[in-house]
Amino acid sequence: MKLYIGIDLGTSAMKLLLMSADGTIHNTVTKEYPLEFPQPGWSQQNPEDWKKALFEGVPELLNGFDASAVAGIGAGGQMHGLVVLDENDNVIRPAILWNDGRTAKQVDYLNNGIGKDKLSALTANIAFAGFTAPKILWMKENEPENFGKIAKIMLPKDYINYILTGVHSCDYSDASGMLLLDVQNKCWSKEMLEICGITEAQMPKLFESYDCIGTVDPEIAEKLGIPGTVKVCAGAGDNAAAAVGTGVVGEGGCNISLGTSGTVFISSEKFGVDPNNALHAFAHADGGWHLMGCMLSAASCNKWLLEDIFGTSDHAAEQAHITEDKLGENHVFFLPYLMGERSPINDTNARGTFIGMTMDTCRADLVLSVLEGVAFAIRDSVEVARSLGITINTSKICGGGAKSPLWKRIFANVLNCELEIPVSEQGPGMGGAMLVMVACGEYETVKDCCGKLCAVADTVKPEPELVAKYEARYQQFKKIYPAVKNLFPEIQ
Ligand code: XUL
Repeated sequence: MKLYIGIDLGTSAMKLLLMSADGTIHNTVTKEYPLEFPQPGWSQQNPEDWKKALFEGVPELLNGFDASAVAGIGAGGQMHGLVVLDENDNVIRPAILWNDGRTAKQVDYLNNGIGKDKLSALTANIAFAGFTAPKILWMKENEPENFGKIAKIMLPKDYINYILTGVHSCDYSDASGMLLLDVQNKCWSKEMLEICGITEAQMPKLFESYDCIGTVDPEIAEKLGIPGTVKVCAGAGDNAAAAVGTGVVGEGGCNISLGTSGTVFISSEKFGVDPNNALHAFAHADGGWHLMGCMLSAASCNKWLLEDIFGTSDHAAEQAHITEDKLGENHVFFLPYLMGERSPINDTNARGTFIGMTMDTCRADLVLSVLEGVAFAIRDSVEVARSLGITINTSKICGGGAKSPLWKRIFANVLNCELEIPVSEQGPGMGGAMLVMVACGEYETVKDCCGKLCAVADTVKPEPELVAKYEARYQQFKKIYPAVKNLFPEIQ
């Protein structure tokens, strides 16, 4: 029996899984690494830490298993992060991550100087602070010496694939989030590269996610304890990989991911653009496309409140104080903009905000307001999709936050949407393993692979009474950000 390794290169940790082609997950390993916030709103990570997680994680994953049976490795990774290598393939500076907000000036130049219409015509998207192109412009302006050393620009999981194979690659789903790809025609946009002062020679080679980019370098294979014949596929951005892992491929599927970020991902066989560019128009890992809304702080808001502010890691115990009568009745609201916000408001200055507290407000009300605030903010993106005529009555849900039954129930009622819980919670890692199964010929297409491996374990249905209560709350939530928006730049 052949074995496949799936890697989820996340923001807080690398999660590895070992899987066989029948869908059995034999083992999982998590390797955490630090995240630096050198200034408010900045976010970076050291690619060396990812490499260390790989070298420690793979042997640990294979401990007690037949390592000679490993046939392929596929990764899904945090998107948009700028990884820059010099002419000797050494990392020049820490990677600037997807939730970094330092590029407000460059975003303004791109969206208003170059113009949103032109950006959208060239790349199907406009500039957001986390996207890669504004970060390249930031480096050019603020770190000219480093900028001059750039020989290759890559995304986080592409660095892992480079370490494994020595090949500089990128897949279309992840490349879509750079604002450098002509998404519809699946090629680098010469004009965008020029606008950013870079050349095609500095860019990695493009692949479909399920294409094999090469085999593992013999020296690396020996270090990891795997055969030199192991194939590596191009992999995908973590949201596209998670959608594969939950079976959201082809026309009209929806997946909600509740991780550090929160995303709503709508798959499509046809290329399409949101006329207002509030949703991203990206390629999918199945060879098609998708629209996506991304909020920057989702499960991380809950983690922040419970762990950093209240000093507890027992999330279930905190949620146990949220009694039935509180649902849909909470007068405390929370704007979940702890890292600014991407979709749909595109505002790097936005900040986390509690509003509506009284003397009888208790700790459970605050905890509930955070769970609700994240659900309301995802609804903002769902509403954009609905306004484009897309029906969202059913969605898959995955990610760490989706482990909470209460949070899933709140989501089902806030969105008035049935939520299907996949048998496996391992979204991006499972998607990565499935993509390399296709690269190795176990399945003919990504869709075939999903058809065989992605089953639904449970469904959370909206409850009409709660839907009505949450509808009223959402209409109130919607008024808060516009009312305080102009204060945020002033109070920083
Ligand atoms: C998507 C995005 C995030 C990261 C998180 O556009 O920025 O979901 O991929 O890992």
